[in-house]
Amino acid sequence: MINKIVPAIRMIASKEKVLTIRLDDSEQFPKLNTEDSVRSLPFVKTDSGIIVITGKTEPEDIIAEVEVKISAWYTAHSSHPDFILLDGMGLIALANNASELDSLLGLPVGEAKTVAGRVQDKIIIVTGGAQGFGGGIAELLYAQGANVVVADLNEEAGKGMANILNTNKQTNQAFFVKVNVSDPGSVEEMITNTVKHFGGLDVIISNAGILRAGGLDEMTPESFALMTDVNYKGYFFCAKYASSVMKVQSNFRKDYFMDIIQINSKSGLKGSNRNFAYAGGKFGGIGLTQSFAMELMPNRIKVNSICPGNFYEGPLWSDPQKGLFVQYLNAGKVPGAKTLNDVKAFYDAQVPAGRGCRVLDVVRAILYAIEQEYETGQAIPVTGGQNMLN
Ligand SMILES: NC(=O)c1ccc[n+]([C@@H]2O[C@H](COP(=O)([O-])OP(=O)(O)OC[C@H]3O[C@@H](n4cnc5c(N)ncnc54)[C@H](O)[C@@H]3O)[C@@H](O)[C@H]2O)c1
Repeated sequence: MINKIVPAIRMIASKEKVLTIRLDDSEQFPKLNTEDSVRSLPFVKTDSGIIVITGKTEPEDIIAEVEVKISAWYTAHSSHPDFILLDGMGLIALANNASELDSLLGLPVGEAKTVAGRVQDKIIIVTGGAQGFGGGIAELLYAQGANVVVADLNEEAGKGMANILNTNKQTNQAFFVKVNVSDPGSVEEMITNTVKHFGGLDVIISNAGILRAGGLDEMTPESFALMTDVNYKGYFFCAKYASSVMKVQSNFRKDYFMDIIQINSKSGLKGSNRNFAYAGGKFGGIGLTQSFAMELMPNRIKVNSICPGNFYEGPLWSDPQKGLFVQYLNAGKVPGAKTLNDVKAFYDAQVPAGRGCRVLDVVRAILYAIEQEYETGQAIPVTGGQNMLN
């Protein structure tokens, strides 16, 4: 219900600039049913514009009435209302950006700056956004003006990341949502929480992923199933629930492009020795991307995978206790290597660019995919020349 109505209202109420809106359905709000009851709320100002929708239960009827009332409101006021009360559901606040929303709702807001970035006020979910590639992607997209949903299984690290971003005091904001991408119910809830908090969804970066290496003798069916659940099925769940909200937005705004972006891997383009559970899931992800792209382009939802090379500076490789460099040194995997630097030099030398992949390399590919209107179903390699397309 929320995912059908709120994104529709976001688009109906937007003219040139797409608005950021918030549904508060906590405690007292669903019980309000008149304009006076809204006006009596402590944060509502005497000159606030309010639309009230009552006596409707079906999403189509609610949306139809919102369309009529918003159109009349624009004719009378040349602007959008500040609040829409949906009787029985809650109160929606409408604003140009997230910090204006806070101020409308009476939350403490200090000075906030608008950065005018390349994804200004877009609503972007980054799964696995607490650390590693996901953390870096969340940080750089926030710096480019996005409202970022840091979605992660790790609550402490994820909240920490969202808090760090918000200390920059921009008019766009970051928000943490706990999710387990291998659980469809949890992914659907992540999308609903995003819709309630920011009003819709413009981009989802399906980044959360895990790696348990091993050849056929070592790989247990349980490990194989876990990696498939997170890396492969998790991407399907994200695309399923994200696209249903994006389709609602596209129904109400015919010129609006949105993105589903999977962080894949160079192991999605070429087999990976003793690492088949990871490579198999990533190859499969490209099959999903190509198929989703065909299905969703009529709704102007582009679907692309980005295939980074090894992120040597990230925790997977560089963690001082359990990172792959330490593991490979201890296991004598690199002949003649005596130090961590020897192991690292061996791997750097396999990349024509002479170094590992960095967050900025990946974010440049993400921004390319978002800014394109004519690219979908692709697997974009970001490997410093290590993997090339045929
Ligand atoms: N590290 C690399 O060298 C490399 C190279 C190419 C591609 N990738 C891909 O990049 C993505 C991120 O990798 P990374 O190395 O940054 O990983 P990471 O381990 O540093 O971070 C992964 C994040 O995902 C979260 N996560 C794990 N399982 C989850 C689940 N079920 N639901 C929600 N969140 C979950 C973790 O809590 C963590 O915050 C993965 O898809 C990976 O396959 C990594």
